[in-house]
Amino acid sequence: MITFRALARDEITQIWNIDRSEIIHNIYILENGLLVRKPAYFEAKGWESGAAERNTPGLLDCFDRGGWCWGAFDADKLVGVAILESKWMGPAHDQLQLKFLHVGNGYRQQGLGKQLFERSRTEARARGARQMYVSATPTENTIHFYQRRGCVLVDPPDPELFALEPEDIHLVCAVEKE
Ligand SMILES: CC(C)(COP(=O)(O)OP(=O)(O)OC[C@H]1O[C@@H](n2cnc3c(N)ncnc32)[C@H](O)[C@@H]1OP(=O)(O)O)[C@@H](O)C(=O)NCCC(=O)NCCS
Repeated sequence: MITFRALARDEITQIWNIDRSEIIHNIYILENGLLVRKPAYFEAKGWESGAAERNTPGLLDCFDRGGWCWGAFDADKLVGVAILESKWMGPAHDQLQLKFLHVGNGYRQQGLGKQLFERSRTEARARGARQMYVSATPTENTIHFYQRRGCVLVDPPDPELFALEPEDIHLVCAVEKE
């Protein structure tokens, strides 16, 4: 049975035990302001080399400044995670970034991603945000997932996040109740 709960600070490194493998068939790129799908077959075997070393300090800092870290567990094993940044962003300073969302291979397509996303949206709303910002991996499955959650292209993207991930698709969604 899958259970959801907040992650403790010392559990953040368990993220790198989540099975990140994925077979990618298509990606999206942005051309003249439009999303264009391109074939791009790729077998991701796991996390990119060095991902844990590069990203753990930033995730711990995020936790320390009040970021929100929520995990999906299969018994004691972390199998999915969502992290909401605490720093306000956007022209009106009313956006919070969904900094991280992953569901392990073997646990996808079962509704976990949706639950992690919607719980993050609820948290963003509780903190007073009007929008949630997502710098999304450009793979087809991921972009479709976010579009089905109501995410749309943000124009212009946040300059700092765009500089960090220029190939990502930068999206926002409303967090207020429809
Ligand atoms: C993108 C990602 C987070 C989605 O997570 P997920 O757990 O697979 O997503 P869900 O299962 O909630 O939803 C995907 C689809 O699964 C299907 N689904 C959901 N519940 C289901 C169920 N009980 N039975 C069968 N199918 C189901 C639905 O078609 C759903 O689509 P919907 O949006 O129309 O509801 C996940 O694929 C992932 O981690 N990918 C790799 C990492 C990544 O790209 N992360 C994002 C970085 S920005």
